[in-house]
Amino acid sequence: MSRPLAEPAITDAPGAVPVLGHLVSLIRNPLGFLRTLSHSTEEIVRIRIGPWKGYVVCDPDVTYHMLLDDSTFDKGGPIFKNMREVLGNGVAVCPHSDHRRQRRMLQPVFGKSNHARFASVIGTEIDTVISHWQNGLPVDIMSDMRDVSARSVVRLMISGLSDDAIVQAVKDVEVSMGGMFWRILLPPPFDILPIPGNIRYKNASSRLRQLFRRTVGEYRMNGGEDDLVSYLIRASDEEDGTTLSDEEISAQIFTVFAAGADTTGHTLGWAFHLLSQHPAVLKRVQAELDAVLGDRLPTVEDLQELTYTTQVVTEVMRLYPTAWFLTRTVMQDSSLGQHFFPAGTDIVFSPYLLHHRPDSHEDPETFNPDRWESDPQGQRHRISMIPFGAGPRKCLGEGLGRVQSVLSLATILSKWELKSESDDIKSGLRLPLTPLGLSMRAFKRRS
Ligand code: HEM
Repeated sequence: MSRPLAEPAITDAPGAVPVLGHLVSLIRNPLGFLRTLSHSTEEIVRIRIGPWKGYVVCDPDVTYHMLLDDSTFDKGGPIFKNMREVLGNGVAVCPHSDHRRQRRMLQPVFGKSNHARFASVIGTEIDTVISHWQNGLPVDIMSDMRDVSARSVVRLMISGLSDDAIVQAVKDVEVSMGGMFWRILLPPPFDILPIPGNIRYKNASSRLRQLFRRTVGEYRMNGGEDDLVSYLIRASDEEDGTTLSDEEISAQIFTVFAAGADTTGHTLGWAFHLLSQHPAVLKRVQAELDAVLGDRLPTVEDLQELTYTTQVVTEVMRLYPTAWFLTRTVMQDSSLGQHFFPAGTDIVFSPYLLHHRPDSHEDPETFNPDRWESDPQGQRHRISMIPFGAGPRKCLGEGLGRVQSVLSLATILSKWELKSESDDIKSGLRLPLTPLGLSMRAFKRRS
C-alpha cells in the first residue's frame, strides 16, 4: 500500500519568527542555533527560511545512513541547480547519475603520490603571502591564510598561471562563492536586481569561466604543464573509455577551485585563533616543531612525526568544521530514520551540529587536542566526526586538505607566533565557516 505524500509530522526547531522563520536566528548566531540542536533528542527537526522548508538531521546514525545512500538523498533541487549554473556540472555538485564517472576520472589527481608535489607548492605560496609580515605588527590572518590556501589550489590545477592572474582568480572565487551562498538563501527576484553585489558576482563568475575555458583551449593547442588541467585533458574513463569535453574540464576546474580554495584557509584561521587562546597547547606544538624540525622547513615526510600538531588540526576541524551546513534533496519518496519524506524535500546536515553533540564528544565545547591521542586524524569516529563529509560524496581533497593544514601550521608556527587581539570571535552566516573580527599580531620566533 502506498503511503500518503503529506508533509512529515516533525517539530519545528526552536527560534522561528513569523514570515522569516529561522532566518533571524541563523543570521544572529548560526553556531548557537546549531548548538541548541546538538542537544536535541529528536532525530530530525524542521527549519524555515521564508517560504523554504528544510529538515535538519540531528542524529549521527541517521545522517550517516543518508550520506551512504546518495542516489536517494542526492545533490539536487533548486540549491544545486543554482550552484551548477555558476560552477557547471563538476564533481562536487553534479547529480548521482553523473557522479561516479567524474569521481573515477578525478580520483588519481588527489592520490598520495601527488601530496609531496602539493606540499612543495604550499611552502612557496606561504613564503609569497607572508613575506610582508613584520615583527610585532598586525596581520590580516584570514585574508593571508585564504590566499595561501587558494593560491596552492590554483597552482595544483594550473601551475603556469601568472601571479596577476592568480591574484584575480583568488578574488573572483571569493566573490562568486559569497554571491552563490546569498542567492541560495534569498528569494529569486533578488538575483536579477542590478545592485553592485549582483554585478560583482556576475562579473567574477564569468571572468573565472572565461579563464578556465581559455586555459583548456591553450593546453589543447600547445600542451601544458604537469597539473590538473593536463591530467584531465589526457584522462579517459577506465570503465567506458570516454574522455572529458572542454566544457566538462572547465566545470571540474571551477568546482575543485570552489571546494578547495577556502576550506583549508579558514581552518588555519580558526587554528591560529584557538592556539592564541590556549598558550599551553601552543607551547606543546612549538616543542614538537622544534624537536622534529629544528631550523628546517617541514616536508610531507615529517607528517608522521608531527602527531600533536595533527591532533590540534583534527580538534580545530571538530570545533569549527568549515563545511558546517550542507544539504541533500530526496529524489524519490523515502523514509529517513523514523520519518517518511516525499520526493523534493530538502534535508540539511551539519558536521558542526554532530561534532558538538555531548553524547558523541565529551565536554564538546572544550578545545582539547588530547582527545585524539590514540587517533590523531579522528578516523575512528567516522559517524560523529565528519569534517570531510562521509559516504560516496566524501571530500576528494581530504588528503590534500590535511597535508595542507598541518604543513601550513607547522611552517608558520616554526618561525612565527601569532597573538590574538580579539577574544570575542563570532561566526557569520557564511560558507565556509568564518571567524569574524579576528585580529592578530605576528611575533618572530626565528628568521
Ligand atoms: C580542510 C579542508 C577541507 C574540508 C574541511 C573539506 C570539506 C569537504 C566536505 C564536507 C565535502 C563533502 C560535501 C558534501 O557532502 O556535500 C567536500 C567535498 C569535496 N571537496 Fe573538500 N574539503 C577540504 C579541502 C579540499 C581540497 C583542498 C580540495 C581540492 C583541492 C577539495 C575538493 C573537494 C571535492 C572535489 C569535493 C566533492 C567530492 C564529491 O562530491 O565526490 N576539498 N569537502
